[in-house]
Amino acid sequence: PDSARLALPIVLVGPMGAGKSRVGHRLATTVDAPFIDTDLRIVERYGPIDEIFDREGEEYFRIIEREVVAEALREEAVISLGGGAVLHPDTRDDLAGLAVVWLQVSRDAVRPRLQGGNRPLIADGGLDRWSAIAAQRRPLYEAVAGLSIDTSRRSVARIVEAITERF
Ligand code: S3P
Repeated sequence: PDSARLALPIVLVGPMGAGKSRVGHRLATTVDAPFIDTDLRIVERYGPIDEIFDREGEEYFRIIEREVVAEALREEAVISLGGGAVLHPDTRDDLAGLAVVWLQVSRDAVRPRLQGGNRPLIADGGLDRWSAIAAQRRPLYEAVAGLSIDTSRRSVARIVEAITERF
C-alpha cells in the first residue's frame, strides 16, 4: 500500500480482546506509520491499569484516559484506543471525520484472547461481564466507526488488508 494515500490517523476501536493492539501494530508496520496504543501510554505514565482502577477508581481512569487519547489523536499515527475510550463524549466528537475502524469479535472467539490480560473491568465477571459491556457499547462504536470488521475468524493479515483497501 502507498502510505502517502493513507488517511492518518487511523483509529481502532472495539471491545477488549477484539485485536486492536495486534492489528494496530501490524497495520502501522505495513503502512510505515508510528503506532500508539493508548493503554500502553497510560501504563508508561501512571502505572499498571489494574492498580489505577484499584487505587483511584474507574472515574479517575477515564479522566487520564481522555487526556492521553486527546493527545494521541493529534498525531499522524495508527492509534488503538482502550475499549472504553468511546465512553467519553469529547473523544466521540474528536473521532468525527477521522478514519475509524471498529474491530468486532464474537463471544466464542474472544475467550482465548482474554487470557492473561490485565483487565480490571472483567476480573470478576469474566466472559459474561465482557458480553454485557460489549453489548452496551455497541451503539457507541457504531456511531464513531466508518468501517467495521469481524475479527473472529480472520487473520491479522486479512484484517490489515481490509483496512488499507478502505482508507
Ligand atoms: C477497558 C479496556 C482496556 C483498558 C481498561 C478498560 C474498557 O483496554 O483500557 O482495562 O473499559 O473496556 P483494551 O480494550 O485494550 O483491553
